[in-house]
Amino acid sequence: MKTKKEIKSPKGKLGVLTPGMGAVSTTFMAGVIAANKNLGKPFGSISQMGRIRLGKRTEERNPLIKDFIPLADTNEMVFGGWDIFEDNAYEAAMKSGVLEKDLLNSIKDELSEIKPMPAVFDTKYVKNIDGENVKKAKTKMDLANELIEDIQNFKEANQCDRMVMIWCASTEVYTQMSDVHMSLDKFEKALEENHPSIAPSMIYAYASIKAGVPFANGAPNLTIDMPALIELANKSNVPIAGKDFKTGQTLMKTILGPGLKTRLLGIEGWFSTNILGNRDGKVLDDVDSFKTKEVSKLSVLESILEPDKYPELYKDMYHKVRINYYPPKGDDKESWDNIDIFGWLGYKMQIKVDFLCKDSILAAPVVLDLAIFMDLAQRANMKGIQEWLSFYFKSPQTKEGLTPIHDIFQQRIKFENTLRYLMGEELINYLGLDYYQE
Ligand SMILES: NC(=O)c1ccc[n+]([C@@H]2O[C@H](COP(=O)([O-])OP(=O)(O)OC[C@H]3O[C@@H](n4cnc5c(N)ncnc54)[C@H](O)[C@@H]3O)[C@@H](O)[C@H]2O)c1
Repeated sequence: MKTKKEIKSPKGKLGVLTPGMGAVSTTFMAGVIAANKNLGKPFGSISQMGRIRLGKRTEERNPLIKDFIPLADTNEMVFGGWDIFEDNAYEAAMKSGVLEKDLLNSIKDELSEIKPMPAVFDTKYVKNIDGENVKKAKTKMDLANELIEDIQNFKEANQCDRMVMIWCASTEVYTQMSDVHMSLDKFEKALEENHPSIAPSMIYAYASIKAGVPFANGAPNLTIDMPALIELANKSNVPIAGKDFKTGQTLMKTILGPGLKTRLLGIEGWFSTNILGNRDGKVLDDVDSFKTKEVSKLSVLESILEPDKYPELYKDMYHKVRINYYPPKGDDKESWDNIDIFGWLGYKMQIKVDFLCKDSILAAPVVLDLAIFMDLAQRANMKGIQEWLSFYFKSPQTKEGLTPIHDIFQQRIKFENTLRYLMGEELINYLGLDYYQE
């Protein structure tokens, strides 16, 4: 038996703060409240329903993950957030139209109490929406300090023991890393000087880490994926993770891609298109926000298929991703994939996927698990980038020099082995030694 790592107790309240209180955030909050009252089951959440195998297969030890490792109890969660609109979580959830009105009405009191704090917002970074509930200050550093104050006030008012922050706000325009993102000193100077390359999401991330609160990024924005904030997270012993929740079409891609690759079926082209009509779709209708999303969605296949190692199968693959805003669909996104594949002697075949999904229904359990596992990471004294949570992201953040793992099954093994490692259990490598004559 290996030694168990020291993990602080999860007793006490866990505050979960989300910049952005739109469809994803309110579906998550309402879902946790409803599940706590036995009004529904948290399907899709590994922290609530997942099991983990321990030891040899013959030992039949498969406990629920939440019974195996000390995790925060969802009954001890309190929710807060920021938004540019003043709607409380009940009003925002009603407008998002994801969950049924009856369900929302049965938890109206709890949801109505969650009121958004004024946001840090800049229309240069999110173009297709604008709102009034926005902070005004002289410098971006002042805005960061106001956010730190919000975090501390929330913690005190709700008597929280610990906090986590998950970015659930709109996708910002595509931003390339520049000199101001390269070190903490430069980043802080840029905050003082109101540098245009510091996006609102970066100000939230800075404030969160400064306040000692783990930060996960659910959108494809640059946000914490830069040397300056990684430096701050390492220095402050705070876990960070990103980016872009892996749901919908990309989830399917990371399920199908590894399957085709493992049987060495070639891919000539993969055309993916989506129609969606929620506020996220409206923001992504702007070319610059779409560019951020496109880069995140496109990166997935490259690392799964490894075209450099298998040029005959994947080097010339044509990969295209489109997102179209189509209001009648609301949150019920429809995504189509046309995959042109080839096999034995180059004979061609096609796979068509028509996924009628509900984006926020797929994202809500991801938010819950990230809140729970980021809190675990902090209690287990794990700082900086949490690559073991890649499982939840389209563009997993990794340490410098490492290629991200996109294959969802490899990600799951890494995730489970991390839990085993923390609890002093043998890691599982699926190697059966009984075939060999020693
Ligand atoms: N639903 C999914 O499956 C999924 C998957 C991956 C990523 N995401 C990302 O998650 C995010 C949320 O998605 P959604 O469907 O809830 O979108 P949404 O538009 O319903 O909600 C986003 C909210 O963020 C608010 N907002 C924008 N900028 C803000 C700021 N600077 N500070 C505070 N609030 C701000 C908006 O007013 C809006 O209410 C988007 O970036 C989306 O791309 C969603």
